[in-house]
Amino acid sequence: MERTLVLLKPVTLQRGLAGEVIKRFEQKGLKIAGMKMMQLTDEILNEHYSHLADRPFFPGLKLSMTRTPVIALCLEGVGAVDVVRQLAGATNGRKALPGTIRGDLSMSGQQNIVHASDSLESASVELKRFFREEEIFSYEGIAATDYGYADDEL
Ligand code: PPS
Repeated sequence: MERTLVLLKPVTLQRGLAGEVIKRFEQKGLKIAGMKMMQLTDEILNEHYSHLADRPFFPGLKLSMTRTPVIALCLEGVGAVDVVRQLAGATNGRKALPGTIRGDLSMSGQQNIVHASDSLESASVELKRFFREEEIFSYEGIAATDYGYADDEL
């Protein structure tokens, strides 16, 4: 079963949208395997956004991620990485399709509500960056019932 990282950005807490966003992931059928609030530091952001270090918006992006704490989620499900990226929509809220989280809730490329891991490899690295092993929980969710997936999907 795949696991992926989502960060609810400071804008999401400021706008009172954390519940709305988490609700969408839950209603889709993704399992919350981990959830924590954290104040991000320059150190973790330098690592997390190292691939963007030479972009002009890098300092502004980092600053925006420290304005309030964020909520980090570890979401689990079959194909969770792609499912979460599709729910999130295109990076820029102005280009994201209606029905997606960014398409419905954001007008910005920076203040785009969530960060979501872009591949299984990134998810594995990013989950280790934001969660200790004991902060991710294994418990029986809908996948363990007759109402989650067909047997051949698991
Ligand atoms: S993506 O999804 O990685 O392909 O998109 P990318 O364009 O590379 O953007 C990666 C992150 O940079 C943020 N971003 C910006 N911040 C500030 N200003 C501008 N103009 C801007 N454009 C992109 C964007 O919100 C992405 O952050 P994360 O946390 O990864 O969503």
